[in-house]
Amino acid sequence: MKLIFLGPPGAGKGTLAVRAVELLKIPHISTGAIFRSAIAAKSPLGLKVKAIIDGGRLVDDDTTIALVKERLAQGDAQKGYILDGFPRTIAQAEALAGFSPQGSAPDRVINFDIPDSAVLERLSGRRVCRNCGTNYHITFNKPAQEAVCDTCGGEVYTRDDDREEAVAKRLEVYREQTAPLIDYYRAKGLLIDVDARPSVDEVVANFKKALGI
Ligand code: AP5
Ligand code: MG
Ligand code: ZN
Repeated sequence: MKLIFLGPPGAGKGTLAVRAVELLKIPHISTGAIFRSAIAAKSPLGLKVKAIIDGGRLVDDDTTIALVKERLAQGDAQKGYILDGFPRTIAQAEALAGFSPQGSAPDRVINFDIPDSAVLERLSGRRVCRNCGTNYHITFNKPAQEAVCDTCGGEVYTRDDDREEAVAKRLEVYREQTAPLIDYYRAKGLLIDVDARPSVDEVVANFKKALGI
């Protein structure tokens, strides 16, 4: 199954993706996570995108499209994928549709439906493992030991783009450049709305019901 997770920053895309991977046994491909690894490694890509991401703006389409094209060509992505955070512009969606001869177009696009107030609460309390990327929340999903990852023992930190000014910018960019994808995929008959407001377990249940799995 080829799935796209679409929704505002902090909607819970990454959190649900981890659960969906267990259910569907397909790779979770997060462009944000790929960029953050590149930044941590101080690779040429990381150095190029760090200021853009910290400021809450989008990395340019050419760079992002080339990255995803290469990732989707790898063996594990042939049986399906969960694309989390890509596409984020109409140009990216059109590039994705034309990637490979057998077609990389999604089977379903999951739209995470959530108001801004809930998004702000989720982002202001989010913490992330620097080593493996596991998401935590200081109220809703704390690690057992403060600032230590349950999964790998890594350091749990606050993402640089979760500062207040960057969050406001990310929401503005989402509305202007990414939200138009909702109508774009709805018109193609691919969109499924999932209520992302309840607890993680309930969102997982809504997701399973929506996909009929
Ligand atoms: P990216 O990493 O994709 O960030 P984002 O879209 O802003 O989304 P987030 O990761 O912030 O939120 P999420 O929906 O995954 O929520 P999460 O599960 O963590 O992108 C980062 C940056 O990279 C972009 O700003 C851009 O600069 C660049 N970039 C990436 N892709 C790009 C592209 N295609 N083109 C150009 N640039 C690109 O959950 C949030 C919090 O809520 C967590 O603390 C979690 O524990 C908690 N939570 C989750 N679900 C629930 C629940 N049901 N109940 C209670 N708490 C919950
Ligand atoms: Mg995420
Ligand atoms: Zn970890």
